[in-house]
Amino acid sequence: MDNESNEILTGGNMNSPVLNDNLIYKESTKASKTIHELLCYVRSQGINWVPESYGINSDGKHVLSYIEGVVPQEKPYWIWNEDILKEVALKLRQWHDATENFKYKKARWLLSNDEINEVICHNDFAPYNCVFKDNKFKGLIDFDVCSPGSRIWDIAYTSYRFIPLFPDKNEEKYYEVSPFSKEVMMNRLKIFLDSYSCDEKEFLYDEKKVINKIRKRLKVLASWSKEYGLQTKNQELQNNAKMYLLHAKWIKIFL
Ligand SMILES: Nc1ncnc2c1ncn2[C@@H]1O[C@H](COP(=O)(O)OP(=O)(O)OP(=O)(O)O)[C@@H](O)[C@H]1O
Ligand SMILES: [Mg+2]
Repeated sequence: MDNESNEILTGGNMNSPVLNDNLIYKESTKASKTIHELLCYVRSQGINWVPESYGINSDGKHVLSYIEGVVPQEKPYWIWNEDILKEVALKLRQWHDATENFKYKKARWLLSNDEINEVICHNDFAPYNCVFKDNKFKGLIDFDVCSPGSRIWDIAYTSYRFIPLFPDKNEEKYYEVSPFSKEVMMNRLKIFLDSYSCDEKEFLYDEKKVINKIRKRLKVLASWSKEYGLQTKNQELQNNAKMYLLHAKWIKIFL
């Protein structure tokens, strides 16, 4: 790697990948080989909006293709465009369909859950892990925490983040808020689920079931964020844990 042209990408709060000559170099984990196999598999299924994976190099870095565009860390107003909401739901559906038959004997994952294993969940399909160009969805990144799970488990987190299903008032300055009223949020959830279904009844998920799943997902995420935040002395993760618990409680208004 030519150090002169390395760019450290600090978007995420877990590690900072390096960009060099249109390639991304990420710190590898015990799951990286599995993620490499998974990305190669889904691309062979026609999913061309995820990075190409070139495997783990001799420095232990996971090498991936760079997707050019914007990865929003702060949420710009256009992120809530209805077209993006529909497109993201459709991409999640395509991702799930493409991972349904993924088999890798030596698979190792960073996360686990007690859901049925229908697909490989991305587990973190949110605005901060999507690339946009001209205010349109272009690609999905950050597959570190993928793991087998149910479709609704992923639908829960992605709809929570993209609707977004957050309270409309701040209780603490670091808590995220929604720009929408409860009525609009519920309508956006319907739009999301409708788009995911692609007019197939079997894939049209019930709103209340999704809300209940979001509660479960947020509680699991809160305990992971708290534990990992304490372990690594990461205050942002510890704050997130508090927010997820508060949101899990608040979201009961939709039941
Ligand atoms: N393949 C890619 N194409 C374009 N940009 C990328 C790619 N991979 C990483 N990035 C950039 O690097 C940043 C951090 O990458 P990534 O999200 O993979 O790391 P992370 O530290 O695991 O993040 P997180 O806190 O979300 O777990 C992203 O926000 C994005 O800006
Ligand atoms: Mg990320």
